Formats: sequence, structure tokens, C-alpha cells
Amino acid sequence: MTMEVDSAACLVVWSFLWMLSPAGGDAEVSCVFMESCILPCSFQGGTDAVIHWTLVTAGDIPVHSYYHNRDQLGHQGQSFRGRTSLFKDQISRGNASLQLTGVQVQDQGRYKCYTSTIRGNKESFINLQVDAPVHKVDMEQEENRITCSSEGIYPEPELTWSTRPPSNVAFKNTTRVQQTEQLLYNINSSLILSDRVTDLVYSCTVSTRSNRRRATLRELTSLDGSSSDTTIPCSASNTSLLNFSLVWRFNHSRIILNRTRTSVPYTVSEEWRQQVKGVSESGSLTLQDLSLKQEGIYTCELSDDEETNITNTLLRIKGSQTGVTRVNEGLVVGAILFVVLAAGLVVLYYKNKKVKNTFCLHLLIIYCVCLY
Ligand SMILES: *[C@@H]1O[C@H](CO)[C@@H](O)[C@H](O)[C@H]1NC(C)=O
Ligand SMILES: *[C@@H]1O[C@H](CO)[C@@H](O)[C@H](O)[C@H]1NC(C)=O
Ligand SMILES: *[C@@H]1O[C@H](CO)[C@@H](O)[C@H](O)[C@H]1NC(C)=O
Ligand SMILES: *[C@@H]1O[C@H](CO)[C@@H](O)[C@H](O)[C@H]1NC(C)=O
Ligand SMILES: *[C@@H]1O[C@H](CO)[C@@H](O)[C@H](O)[C@H]1NC(C)=O
Ligand SMILES: *[C@@H]1O[C@H](CO)[C@@H](O)[C@H](O)[C@H]1NC(C)=O
Repeated sequence: MTMEVDSAACLVVWSFLWMLSPAGGDAEVSCVFMESCILPCSFQGGTDAVIHWTLVTAGDIPVHSYYHNRDQLGHQGQSFRGRTSLFKDQISRGNASLQLTGVQVQDQGRYKCYTSTIRGNKESFINLQVDAPVHKVDMEQEENRITCSSEGIYPEPELTWSTRPPSNVAFKNTTRVQQTEQLLYNINSSLILSDRVTDLVYSCTVSTRSNRRRATLRELTSLDGSSSDTTIPCSASNTSLLNFSLVWRFNHSRIILNRTRTSVPYTVSEEWRQQVKGVSESGSLTLQDLSLKQEGIYTCELSDDEETNITNTLLRIKGSQTGVTRVNEGLVVGAILFVVLAAGLVVLYYKNKKVKNTFCLHLLIIYCVCLY
């Protein structure tokens, strides 16, 4: 008799508590794309618990079930295969939280956690949101066009341009957004530089719900190097920038060296071992043994958590190779002069046959030979 009263009282208290819990009080959980994530759920605990996790928004897809003291994955939705688990050792203590690994954008939605024991049933709801933050913003200059791009972002990012110092350059930019099969966004925008405005620093900011990153590009400058030591500056600053990560690239693709914030000293790629003499604390690159093969664009990328500063320098090599070209040019000019003078001589010779005045002719021959 008392037992019945007790359980009835218990039920009333439970219903009361249940009503007290805020309506629509779904828990919000943010998960990061490709990482693992915990969907929290707790219940009273006890033995012989039954747990059913379902994705409600997609028509109650079974996500993970547990009863008879083990996982029951016979009906599990295809897309969740191998990616779900419960904290088994904590179920008896009332922890029904679900761990989801390799989070996909498609995992977004409203999840239901249903638990049942002899002491009663419970349902709770979780709204899962997926974020793929902006990892890297790339900027490139090709002639008078600057392109800014970033990939693998969710939800849809925004891209904005600005200059330093601020300018009222009418930004004739075209921004394109594409969505990948994984539902991530790739964004790309290009800007045509005006001839009238120079010495500006261009910035491109890509932002999404979870974060933003900025890239900054100085207009291309050129530098004359020689076959002996040549230093290419990275930053306008001469202070130590050891706490930034640094990458030097050649012709927009091949990495010459990089230095991460945690791994000072830097790593030089195999093919540049001979040319790299050193890197200063401010990031300047000193090269040696240069030949025409190393002529091209050197890009320095200096990054911290929020931004990347990009500096492009066109390096031209002056040295023995250029000397050879000059000698060749001299030979060509000499040969042309010789032919012209010889032709003049022939003409003069025929004219002078009649006049019999060869003094002028001899003078011309001597002049011509000397010149050559
Ligand atoms: C359940 O256990 C996991 C693993 O120890 C823990 O991270 C989580 O916070 C627990 N959840 C609840 C609701 O107690
Ligand atoms: C930059 O620093 C180096 C070494 O600290 C120094 O030799 C050089 O003169 C400095 N350059 C400028 C422009 O301050
Ligand atoms: C790098 O170090 C300088 C001074 O040593 C400090 O002012 C700056 O905030 C640091 N930057 C980062 C990103 O830690
Ligand atoms: C920098 O070098 C390390 C190894 O030295 C490499 O793992 C990393 O991917 C490199 N970073 C970039 C941006 O290439
Ligand atoms: C690097 O780029 C420059 C100019 O864009 C080009 O002339 C040169 O051939 C390139 N060098 C290599 C090794 O690709
Ligand atoms: C980028 O350049 C700006 C302005 O010169 C400077 O304030 C900022 O610290 C730089 N950031 C990095 C990561 O080099």
C-alpha cells in the first residue's frame, strides 16, 4: 500500500518537475566539422536502461540504440555508421551522452534522446549546429588583378575588401561562392587594380558565424639580386617576429622554407638547401649562389591567429649570365655596322673608279677595320 502511495507521489513530483522545465528548452550544441562532438543527455540512471538516439528533423533516423546492456545498431542510419558511441561505464550513473566523430554538415538538426528504466521514461532534445571555421585566406596578384580566396567554410561566409590607407577606390570586384559535395563553401573574389592608385595595401576579410580571418597583400615590388648574397625583406618591421608562423614560397607554389610558431628553427625544402643562407628574426630571407633559375616571384606569408600578411617580391638576378648577353649584343651590333660600311665601300669603289681618287676610299677602309 505505502509502496503505491510512494510511487504515485514520485510520479506527481516528476510530472511537476517535467512541467517546470522550460518549454522548447532544447540544448544547443555547436560542433566543428570533421572533429568529434558530445551530445549531452542525462537521466536518473539505474540498471537495464534503454537509450534511443534519433535525428528528428530527418524523419526520425535511428542514430544509436542501447538496451540489454549493449549497443543495438541494427537499424542505425547509414550516415552514422561507425561514428557514434556512448560512455558505457557511465550509463548506470545516468549519463546517456552520445559521442559523434567526424562531424559532417549533414549531421545538423534536432536530436532526441529517449531513455527508459523501470523508474520511468524521459525525452530530451538537442539542436546540433555545425561550423567549419575559416582556416586560411589566400591572396595572389597577377598583373593588375588581385584574387582572394578561401575554402571549406560553413555556414556561408562573407568576403569584404579594404585598403590601407583607406581609399575610395571603387571596388569593381566579383565574388563567387560555390558549395562542395560536403556542403562546405568555397569563396573567391577578384579586384582589378587601378593604374592611378599605387602604394596601397589590400586586405580581404572572410568571415563566418564562428570566426573571421584576414589576408593583407602589398603590391608587387621588384628587387635586383646578384649571384652573391641577396636579402629579400618580408615585413616592413625590423622587430623579432618569431612568434608568427612564416612561409616563403617561390613562383606562387613551391615552398622554400617554413617556420611555425612552435618550431623555431625553420625547415628548408630539399631543393633550396644550397640557396638558403638564412632567415632573420623579422622573416627576411637571405639567398646565395643564385643563378637565372632563381629569378621569379618570392612570396613571404606571415601569420598569426587572425591574419596573414603576404609580400610578393619579383627578384631579378644580375651577374655573369647578364654579362654574356651584353657580349652577344655587342657582336650583333658590330656585325650590322660592318655590313653597312662594307656596302658603302663597294658603292664608293665603283664611283671612284672613274675619279681615280682613292685617298678617301683608303681612309674609309682603315676607319672601318678599326671600328670592328
Ligand atoms: C558523460 O560522460 C562523458 C565522458 O566522461 C562526459 O564528457 C560528459 O560530460 C558526461 N555527460 C553528462 C551529461 O554527465
Ligand atoms: C634591422 O635590424 C638589424 C639587426 O638587428 C640591424 O642590423 C639593421 O640595421 C636594422 N635595420 C633597420 C632598417 O632598422
Ligand atoms: C609577439 O611578441 C611581441 C613582443 O615580443 C608581442 O607584442 C606580440 O603581441 C606577440 N604576438 C603574438 C601573436 O603572440
Ligand atoms: C611546414 O613544415 C612542416 C614540417 O616541417 C609541415 O608539416 C607543414 O605542413 C609546413 N607548413 C606549410 C604551411 O606548408
Ligand atoms: C618563375 O616565374 C618567372 C616569372 O613569372 C618566370 O620567368 C620563371 O621562368 C619562373 N621560374 C621557374 C623555375 O618556374
Ligand atoms: C600585418 O601587418 C600589419 C600592419 O603592417 C601589422 O599591424 C600586423 O601585426 C601584421 N600581422 C602579421 C601577422 O604579420
